[in-house]
Amino acid sequence: MDMSVFINSLRDPMGLPFYPVVFQGLMVLTFALHIVMINLVVGSLLLALWGRFSGKGYPLRLAHALARGVTVILSVAIVLGVAPLLFVQTIYDPLWYSANLLSAWWAMVFLLLVTLAFLAAYVFYLRSAEQPRWGLKACLFSIAAVVGAGTIMHMLHMEGLQPQSWAGWFSGSGELATSGWAFHGFSIGRFGHFMAPALVNVGILLMLYAWYFARRPGSDRDYLEWTAILGAGIMRLALVVQMAFGFWWFFEIPGELNFLAHPAFHFGLLVALIAIGLLFWISYRPLERAPWAALTSIVTVLAMGVTREALRMVYLKPFDYSIYQYPVQLDWGSTLLFLATFVGGLVVMAYPLMIAFKSGRGEQV
Ligand code: HEM
Repeated sequence: MDMSVFINSLRDPMGLPFYPVVFQGLMVLTFALHIVMINLVVGSLLLALWGRFSGKGYPLRLAHALARGVTVILSVAIVLGVAPLLFVQTIYDPLWYSANLLSAWWAMVFLLLVTLAFLAAYVFYLRSAEQPRWGLKACLFSIAAVVGAGTIMHMLHMEGLQPQSWAGWFSGSGELATSGWAFHGFSIGRFGHFMAPALVNVGILLMLYAWYFARRPGSDRDYLEWTAILGAGIMRLALVVQMAFGFWWFFEIPGELNFLAHPAFHFGLLVALIAIGLLFWISYRPLERAPWAALTSIVTVLAMGVTREALRMVYLKPFDYSIYQYPVQLDWGSTLLFLATFVGGLVVMAYPLMIAFKSGRGEQV
């Protein structure tokens, strides 16, 4: 059967309850937020590991602060992963479910790893002061589990992008691959490009941490300055690594897709170059300019998300798969309910966040 007919007939016959472009926009936005949080988890765990390992002074103090924060950041990262998952399953269901059939056991392992990563992060936070050896082991385990979970998520995405290989993967060896252990399409450049910002973003987190607490009466100025300078240094170094992975990824993209000529590639590259310039400028006055670094990073990751989505559309073009042709059965009731709970949730979250922001600085609330 023609692959294009095959993929298009795997779509949900009920169609979408609202216009696909809205789901796509929300998917890109929530993916960007998800990946920033994942970066912060990986970066914080790596830095906390280093601080715990050094065992004294400012690095140890920082390790305590990061260990406390990482449990919260990981929960936010997981919740923010559910949102793009819902949108991917809605508009790219034929790809997502095919990959999940091929690699069903890996999808289960993913859930296990996420759960274990979370538990290990808690053990690290709660036990590492009294039992440093246990703390180190728990931290190492958590890093490995998070990176393992990310590897699986990336692999599922890559398998979905290559429908031309599905038949070969399912039956190429002469026997049907029904074990659920298939693992195909891993791209080091792409995975590295989404994981290397862990150090860029944790560098920015340190700068923000110093900026935030420096305004608190009685804060330890020397420690905060050390933290800000450390963060800026890590960020500068990681930006170079990030760029290198970007080029690596680019050379892994099949040449016949001609992505070099695509406007989304030019857009992504332009935003990345501006962001690198800005972040280097910010890094020389980290204590004052930290919020600008956070804003720059979020905008850049969002642009990366847009480019990533454009690339997915380029991958799928030869199969005539376009989400814009997904059948739509408008359902205003469920759409309005979704939007109302979304906006309501944002309002409910804004108030405690504002209180926490002010009280953390010792301001009257
Ligand atoms: C905790 C460890 C996790 C890590 C390290 C991680 C990492 C990643 C990475 C690197 C990607 C990009 C893959 C690519 O474009 O090649 C990604 C995408 C994604 N992740 Fe996560 N993730 C984690 C947890 C989760 C969880 C718990 C969920 C959902 C419940 C989730 C949902 C998603 C979704 C929906 C995508 C986009 C897939 C697509 O666009 O096809 N992730 N994640």
